[in-house]
Amino acid sequence: MSSATPDRTGRSTPRIVLDCDPGHDDAVAIVAAARFTELLGITTVAGNVPLERTTYNARVLRDLLDLDAEVHSGADRPLVVEAADASYVHGESGLDGADLPVPTRPLDGTDAVGFIIDTCGAHDDVWLVPTGPLTNIALALRAAPDLVDRIAGISLMGGGRFGNRTPVAEFNIWADPDAAAIVFDSGARLVMTGLDVTHRFQATPARIDEVAALDGRLAEVLTGLFHFFADNYVARHDGLDGAPVHDPLAVLVLTHPELFTTVPRHVAVETHGTLTRGMTVIDERRQRDRPAPTCEVVTSVDADAAWALVVDAIAASTR
Ligand code: RIB
Ligand code: CA
Repeated sequence: MSSATPDRTGRSTPRIVLDCDPGHDDAVAIVAAARFTELLGITTVAGNVPLERTTYNARVLRDLLDLDAEVHSGADRPLVVEAADASYVHGESGLDGADLPVPTRPLDGTDAVGFIIDTCGAHDDVWLVPTGPLTNIALALRAAPDLVDRIAGISLMGGGRFGNRTPVAEFNIWADPDAAAIVFDSGARLVMTGLDVTHRFQATPARIDEVAALDGRLAEVLTGLFHFFADNYVARHDGLDGAPVHDPLAVLVLTHPELFTTVPRHVAVETHGTLTRGMTVIDERRQRDRPAPTCEVVTSVDADAAWALVVDAIAASTR
């Protein structure tokens, strides 16, 4: 399958649980999910910053979007490896760059794994959309192995043909490689949006100006977040015009599959390599005896069209 699949979800509006570690790009994933999906709930995980902060940030976005969705916090550390964050990218708050409103709605629970299991038991065709380390997802699959057959699939942002935390490992996979291995080996339907695609979806100055031109508090907050995120990325990288906005693509690949192409590949996660911990090993071999595919690996995105959807989702919040 090397072209866009017209309808990946079998539903006009995908029904999802978003598991995230806000995080600037996770915030955009929440906005996209609010606009284009049936968002059953938001679960949080330690990742970009510690759990307390990712959870606070998810509540901030929920209030800014005036969402009904519940927020449940989950794992505060990886399954095995030492916890490590990405505050050097997102700032100590996880959402540096904007004057954030103080969230008013309380947290709905601290058992994200139970919420995921219960929600997938109460609804058919749920897509799990993790945009942070896969700790909560792995724990849910371990606690309820039948989830693999109950859910529609897992659309994750992570991995890729190159890394960012190391030369070969992307942060979400690297931060909890054991959890990632459980997810990739689970047999669940997987859609993987990795760095080789997300780096082609950048918040450039011109695209940020489109957001800045919108009315409303959400647009104001996101403009500040995009400026911080883009300035940080451009300062730390050669050859980037802005910040790769990774996470919303894991949502949009379900809601607008026509903007993406994918290829079926066997993907496994290295959990022990000194140099390769957290690498997504994508089998590109052509031998006929290669292992069967386990994942739809996203290979391209229509970046302009996807950005137009992000702008639409932000603008919709003020309607
Ligand atoms: O490597 C990019 C991923 O790590 C994104 O999900 C970002 O939010 C961080 O979690
Ligand atoms: Ca993230």
